[in-house]
Amino acid sequence: MERGHLPIMPEEILEYLCASSPELVVDGTSGGGGHTALLSKAFPHSRILAVERDPSASEALSEKFSGTSVTVINSSYAELPEIFKTQNLPLAGGALFDLGLSSIQLDTPERGFSHRTSGPLDMRFDQSRGVPASDMLRSRTEKQIADIIFRYGEEGRSRSIARAIKQNRKLATTDDLADAVRTAVRGNPVKPLARVFQAIRIMVNDELQHLERLLSEMHYWTKPGCRIAVLTFHSLEDRLIKLHFRDSEYFRQFDPPWMLPTSAEKRTNSRARSARLRLGVRL
Ligand SMILES: C[S@@+](CC[C@H](N)C(=O)[O-])C[C@H]1O[C@@H](n2cnc3c(N)ncnc32)[C@H](O)[C@@H]1O
Repeated sequence: MERGHLPIMPEEILEYLCASSPELVVDGTSGGGGHTALLSKAFPHSRILAVERDPSASEALSEKFSGTSVTVINSSYAELPEIFKTQNLPLAGGALFDLGLSSIQLDTPERGFSHRTSGPLDMRFDQSRGVPASDMLRSRTEKQIADIIFRYGEEGRSRSIARAIKQNRKLATTDDLADAVRTAVRGNPVKPLARVFQAIRIMVNDELQHLERLLSEMHYWTKPGCRIAVLTFHSLEDRLIKLHFRDSEYFRQFDPPWMLPTSAEKRTNSRARSARLRLGVRL
């Protein structure tokens, strides 16, 4: 099977961002570089800043875009104000964020993101920092784990799943976590498995905290009229963005405020099924 990541809603994103001719465009979650490549082609006269939190993905991106108008930075998008300062960049006229994880990360068993493959229970975007999911779960109480699964996974059986997780003393691999979920739920475990793995990934990477910081400091590096496109996959992150574009003194929602992938795209790209494209404009 070819390993790769199909960019979601490429035409809609390009049409939205191409309304201006910016000096600088930010791809805040460059991943496999699919959207970055499209942006660099669509904006041949602009500089593209590609930010990626995962060091191994960043290394591949640096190779892929070497000698082009794309500057790759291995960092979190939460650090964008510092990146703009240290790189001495002009204010951005367009930005894209494609939240969550890439198919490349999901399909690499050693990263521990998937319940479909056996691997160490890690789930960190940046394995050089923080602690793997296995250690984090061992250090949390049953109640804390249940709350995480309920809040970040929107899974109703959070309490029984958290109990089964705490009863599994080993909890070192993706299989150990998947077994605990299967023990706790009756019926088809596929949805609860996906929700629990998503919840734990969000916890391990502090994803909502990074997103909150991105939003609260986004006005520092965007110029008036800058268009922002954010692909969201989860109601919590989608709500944070919606409220920011609606209520912030620095941004407004575009009209329409969001778009969904076409049915044709959902059929060909399973990751597109839960995607929503949020659109905002810097005032
Ligand atoms: C859905 S993928 C992006 C795929 C990309 N648009 C493409 O076309 O290949 C999301 C990427 O964001 C990265 N990421 C997650 N949190 C991040 C953060 N706070 N800052 C920067 N990158 C982040 C992940 O490591 C992952 O590679």
